[in-house]
Amino acid sequence: MSDGRVALVTGGSRGIGLACARRLQADGYRVAVTWKSAPPDPLEGPAGSLPLLPVRCDVTDADELEAAFSEVEASLGNVEVLVCSAGITEDTLLLMMSEEKWQRVLDTNLTAVYRAAKRASARMVRARFGRIVLMSSVVAYLGSAGQTNYAASKAALIGFGRSLARELAGRQVTVNVVAPGVVDTDMVAALGEERAAALTAMVPLKRAARPEEVAHAVAWLASAEAAYVTGAVIPVDGGLGMGH
Ligand SMILES: NC(=O)c1ccc[n+]([C@@H]2O[C@H](COP(=O)([O-])OP(=O)(O)OC[C@H]3O[C@@H](n4cnc5c(N)ncnc54)[C@H](OP(=O)(O)O)[C@@H]3O)[C@@H](O)[C@H]2O)c1
Repeated sequence: MSDGRVALVTGGSRGIGLACARRLQADGYRVAVTWKSAPPDPLEGPAGSLPLLPVRCDVTDADELEAAFSEVEASLGNVEVLVCSAGITEDTLLLMMSEEKWQRVLDTNLTAVYRAAKRASARMVRARFGRIVLMSSVVAYLGSAGQTNYAASKAALIGFGRSLARELAGRQVTVNVVAPGVVDTDMVAALGEERAAALTAMVPLKRAARPEEVAHAVAWLASAEAAYVTGAVIPVDGGLGMGH
């Protein structure tokens, strides 16, 4: 299914990134995950799978990201599947948004993706194989009051991903974007019960997604079955963003 390919998931310590890592691990990939606060536990997956390789890395630090790639290459080989899931929110209305809040979100959600995709794609191009999956959000096209920084970063990922998809298509490297809606992770828990419930009420399917449901889409985009899919934005949002 995976041909034992090497996958790197940024933000693979928790939430959606960890669910993606565990799914790829179960599918037979050799999977590395970046972590900042704490590595995932346990590292072991289902019988027959290899343990996750945890790599400490703040994705906003160019040197740490470079070192993380070198560590993965030395331990597992060149990254063939890159899933960029590390992301943060720092919500506030624009009139109260400091430059620091703006910059931290753009640095984490966008500039780090530019660096990781650039680093990974050099070797993917040489190998004439690669899968890059970027984690955007339904907020990229719906907008969200209090999230101008976050929405800008997530919308930028779509333009970035589609442009890179065009650049790399001739080398059989695909670049796709997944746009989740409301997913049951720490990021949504941080909104508080009331706001999370209000958001969930807007979802046609009337529930939050489980992180594993986003991971299914990522695993498919990484697979051989999706070889002819590039530049796509795949919504996994319970219908929240339909029509956009
Ligand atoms: N949850 C949702 O409803 C939702 C909806 C749409 C899109 N998304 C997107 O999906 C992605 C994952 O979100 P989530 O809900 O799983 O969030 P989460 O539970 O808050 O996890 C965030 C992940 O990003 C990592 N991270 C944050 N800043 C980092 C940095 N500077 N360097 C390295 N890692 C960093 C965290 O690592 P540590 O744990 O090591 O700190 C953690 O693994 C994000 O890009 C988010 O924008 C989420």
